[in-house]
Amino acid sequence: MNIAVLGTGKVGSALGARLASRGHRVLYGSRTPAGADRLDHRSAVASSDLVVTALPGGDVLDVLGEIGEEALGDKILLDPSATITPQTAMGHISAGAAAQVQRRFPRTRVVKTLNTMNFTIMVDPLASVPAATVFVSGDDAAAKTVVTALLGDLGWPDTGIIDLGDIDTATATEQAGSLYFATVRALGDARFNLTVSR
Ligand SMILES: NC(=O)c1ccc[n+]([C@@H]2O[C@H](COP(=O)([O-])OP(=O)(O)OC[C@H]3O[C@@H](n4cnc5c(N)ncnc54)[C@H](OP(=O)(O)O)[C@@H]3O)[C@@H](O)[C@H]2O)c1
Repeated sequence: MNIAVLGTGKVGSALGARLASRGHRVLYGSRTPAGADRLDHRSAVASSDLVVTALPGGDVLDVLGEIGEEALGDKILLDPSATITPQTAMGHISAGAAAQVQRRFPRTRVVKTLNTMNFTIMVDPLASVPAATVFVSGDDAAAKTVVTALLGDLGWPDTGIIDLGDIDTATATEQAGSLYFATVRALGDARFNLTVSR
């Protein structure tokens, strides 16, 4: 599938490389376009079916606003972002971000996922942990089916993928950011996953 990855940092690079290695056509959207596969945000989105917002959470709405509602249309938007506040050292994360994006762009099919683990785990879930859970939230069932297939391409087993429900449930995983950062501090290591065991 044609995928636009907005942001060329740790998450964007890791997801883009892994999805490309699985046969997807990946174009990056960047503030500093360079070459044939690193375009400006709008150009990357124009030739994609699915958009990944691998951007600082606080910049997602601004970047999408510049791209525009018309260009985003009914594309699927996979949102792994976290909005980290200045109080992050205390574990505070802004929640409700994906729901806000969905309200601002009602035609675009927002799916929140991959926001509860480090980027190395996102693309290699079972390499360092024996079981792994990834949560999915979104209003559009077909979009969630597409995203679930992409998660499979990244190595997530079906049994580890939990569909929490509509986009408002993304608030729960966004709030889990506090637990995530507290655990990173306690372990001194980000190579773990918050996993549901039953
Ligand atoms: N790192 C993780 O393990 C992890 C885990 C879970 C969730 N997340 C979330 O995933 C998102 C990406 O994280 P990351 O670790 O990849 O961050 P990062 O390494 O800082 O990369 C973010 C990228 O976004 C672009 N960017 C930065 N500032 C921007 C701005 N003001 N306006 C537009 N674009 C800007 C840059 O790409 P260009 O220079 O190409 O424009 C930058 O490389 C964040 O929301 C983060 O909270 C990260």
